[in-house]
Amino acid sequence: MRKPLVAGNWKMNLNLREARELVAGIRRGRDRCADVDLAICPPFVYLFPMQKALDGSNIRLGAQDVFYEANGPYTGEISADMLAEAGVSLVIIGHSERRRTILNPEDDWTVHRKLLVSLAKGLDPILCVGETLAQRHAGQTLEVLTFQLSAALVGVDPGLAPRLAVAYEPVWAIGTGQVATPEQAREAHAHIRAELRRWAGPAAEQVRILYGGSLKPDNAAAIFRQPDVDGGLVGGASLNAEAFLEIARAALAAGHGGTYTRPGGPG
Ligand code: PGA
Repeated sequence: MRKPLVAGNWKMNLNLREARELVAGIRRGRDRCADVDLAICPPFVYLFPMQKALDGSNIRLGAQDVFYEANGPYTGEISADMLAEAGVSLVIIGHSERRRTILNPEDDWTVHRKLLVSLAKGLDPILCVGETLAQRHAGQTLEVLTFQLSAALVGVDPGLAPRLAVAYEPVWAIGTGQVATPEQAREAHAHIRAELRRWAGPAAEQVRILYGGSLKPDNAAAIFRQPDVDGGLVGGASLNAEAFLEIARAALAAGHGGTYTRPGGPG
């Protein structure tokens, strides 16, 4: 049984006071989902204060990105060693908002290099993959996932599989309120697992595959009940401690084959 992982991707949100309050709220409710691995991924400048705020808890500190060089003339970039010094143990790589950013789009080669450096430096990657709406409509979803995974994982030691998480994030579901259906998630996650098996054989069973894209307390349970859904990468809903904890609780219930009931209604 894979232990569920629920990671909050704060993106470029919150001021420092709000960030501290959010962490305090998550810590207060941590007992409700003690058997789920929880992580928060704040903006870079909040990493040190959030390391302090998390002190003594088992909530992991993650970063939203990493640069692939060790050091040098890369204005504005942050290395894996710098992240590790800030207490980071996990890093999101290849988020679609970075793959598609207008200023500096990340191609698959960049994503691959970021994955390599993270693994080499002891940071556990959450590798994001997912299709656009146009690709889904063109029937290319599984092909896109295969391509993104193989481009990222080429030459990566399969022995490192237990440290990897993959987030299936359909681009059309991110921040839109349009969550994937449980069937869409099931199909994509099964495909990702099959691709991971081609890369790592039996070790692929240890990779956690997260769903991301408009996860909310009222839709998380149905998604988490699908086979091969091992948790979530949560954007908007991770900015609210209660919502984030409810999503983690849904992962817990699904991961243990239990029935999850939302307070005030069926899950
Ligand atoms: P969302 O973002 O939950 O706000 O859709 C998810 C993500 O981008 O990881």
